Amino acid sequence: MKILAVLGSPHKDGNTATILSLYLAEAIRKYPDAEIENIFLQSLNIKGCQACFYCKKADTKTCIINDDMTEIYPKIYDADVLIFATPIYWWNMTSQMKTFIDRLYALDFRAGALKDKKLVYLTTYGAPEYNSSGAYFVEQSLASMAKFTGMKFNQRYGVCSDVTPENPLSSNEKVLADIKEIALTL
Ligand SMILES: Cc1cc2nc3c(=O)[nH]c(=O)nc-3n(C[C@H](O)[C@H](O)[C@H](O)COP(=O)(O)O)c2cc1C
Repeated sequence: MKILAVLGSPHKDGNTATILSLYLAEAIRKYPDAEIENIFLQSLNIKGCQACFYCKKADTKTCIINDDMTEIYPKIYDADVLIFATPIYWWNMTSQMKTFIDRLYALDFRAGALKDKKLVYLTTYGAPEYNSSGAYFVEQSLASMAKFTGMKFNQRYGVCSDVTPENPLSSNEKVLADIKEIALTL
C-alpha cells in the first residue's frame, strides 16, 4: 500500500503535523509494509491553476506549468491512499492546500486517475467545535471532490488545538485513542 501524506499547514511541526504523524504511526502499525511519502507543501513551489485547459487536450494530458507539481503527479497516480492534512484558516483549508488541490485538475480524472483511491482528511482548528470551526465545510468540499473523481472518502478526523494547553496534542490520550480507532479502519 502506498500512502501519500500531504501537509497543508505552514508549520512543519505544528498541530496538524502532530496529528498527521500520529495517524501515520498507527497506519504503519496496521500495514507494516506500507510505503509512506510525506509532502510538505509550504516548502514547495506550486503555482495556482491557470485554467488554460492544456491538460485537457487529447495529445497532452499534462499540466503546462513546470514547477514542483511535476514531480508530485506521478506519486498521486501511484498512491493507494491520499491523506490531506490541513489546519482550518478562515473556515476553509489553507491556501497551500487549496492551490495543491486546484492543480489536481490536470490529472485525467475522467479516465479514472483518482478512482478508488482512499482519501483521508485530517484537520486541526482553534474553535471548540468541529462544526463551527469550518472543518465541516472542508469535509463537504473534499467529499464532493471524492464523489466527482471516484475516490473513497472514508475517513476524517478533526480536533481543536486549543483545548489542551497543558496537555499537548501529541500526548493527549483522547486524541491518541481517536486517531488509533480511525487509522485501524483504513
Ligand atoms: C490565518 C488563520 C486563520 C484561522 N482561521 C480559523 C478558523 O476559521 N476556524 C478555526 O477554528 N480556527 C482557525 N484558526 C486556528 C488554526 O486552525 C489552529 O490554530 C490550527 O491548529 C493551526 O494548525 P498548525 O499548527 O498546523 O498551523 C486560524 C489560524 C490562522 C493562523
